[in-house]
Amino acid sequence: MTPDSIARWHNPALLDHLIRIRQPWDRLTRRIVRATLAKYLPHSPEILVEIGAGGGQLREWLPPEIAAVTTHTEPSKPFVEAFCQRYPDANVLAADAENLPFTSDSVSGVLALCVLDTLPDLATVRNELHRVLKPGGVVVHFLDLATSPDTLFPELIAGGEVPLTNFARDPGLLEVLPESKKALLPVADDFDEVLAVRWDAFVPFVGMLAKANQPIVADLGPYARLHQPGSFDPDRFALEFMAISADPSRLLALNRALLSLTLTARQMGRAWPLRAVSSRTHLRMKLQNTFATEHGFSLDFAGPISAWEMAPEFVLRHAGRTVSRLMPIPGTPVEEVEGTSLAAAPGKAVRATTVEVFVARKGVGPNLGSSACV
Ligand SMILES: C[S@@+](CC[C@H](N)C(=O)[O-])C[C@H]1O[C@@H](n2cnc3c(N)ncnc32)[C@H](O)[C@@H]1O
Repeated sequence: MTPDSIARWHNPALLDHLIRIRQPWDRLTRRIVRATLAKYLPHSPEILVEIGAGGGQLREWLPPEIAAVTTHTEPSKPFVEAFCQRYPDANVLAADAENLPFTSDSVSGVLALCVLDTLPDLATVRNELHRVLKPGGVVVHFLDLATSPDTLFPELIAGGEVPLTNFARDPGLLEVLPESKKALLPVADDFDEVLAVRWDAFVPFVGMLAKANQPIVADLGPYARLHQPGSFDPDRFALEFMAISADPSRLLALNRALLSLTLTARQMGRAWPLRAVSSRTHLRMKLQNTFATEHGFSLDFAGPISAWEMAPEFVLRHAGRTVSRLMPIPGTPVEEVEGTSLAAAPGKAVRATTVEVFVARKGVGPNLGSSACV
């Protein structure tokens, strides 16, 4: 890991921000974390290691007997200092997950909260976790917050797709769009941040419109110059995407242009393969591929786990977004993980959240990753 990639985490004010945005969901998230650990951690773990521990949020949610055997690691020195101030009794080490100060085959479980989605070299970290884990030891990752959509750009682009803002869910556009035109859009939900279109469909079409001086090209913002050879700078593109996404009026203008481009392409009968992508689903697939059997792991669980409690009105936080429109609560109910009986179906007045959970286990036999039947 380069010093630069750690330096982005040197601002302790970020930790206060994280505490603030997590606070309304604290009880529910704690319940999901505890249920997951009770179900998937090996019995009586002797050494547990947290990676990317930040200011200690996960410790806050751990049951005392788990916290007592956990060593928290974090490469950012300012975060380590903040952690030690908050939890003077905790065992905290400054360490990068690529190079952990533990002997091979010594650790019962590696825990992480909102970390694996931020690492540029996940394979190196995976190999290091495999080294330190005992056979049968687990990696447990929780993601309770949004993960930035730009984290999925490199792979979409390498796979021949252009990431577009999700104009198919823009309420400002959908309100005025006739049903016949809505039918031309891909199926997407509120939690899909990106629509991906094939590069070899998008770029020649925009190039053709630019050549014909079509005014729509000027409204395509960062997409307008993609047809110019050598003009694509992935970092600049990601920065522009995020800046526009954070500015409602620019986002509406860009979404309007992308919608119009898509409808024109479809009406002209051009190939326009477009699919909705959520960064959370993308991360889930990426973790499953990274911690796959051929790398010495087997999958115990991957997906959202949900919990709810009574509240004055319906509010759901899922995939880092908060919605107050009444809708089914996605994910595996926490009661199923706990093995407790399912509470009655939630009514309209609930506060609900989901946490994306990933659990992979280090293979136990020579056939690494295959589950041993007893
Ligand atoms: C989004 S923050 C999450 C912090 C904390 N776990 C939380 O959820 O509050 C990501 C954390 O990963 C850490 N990190 C970045 N690169 C890392 C690496 N190579 N190894 C271990 N941790 C890393 C950062 O320093 C940061 O603390």
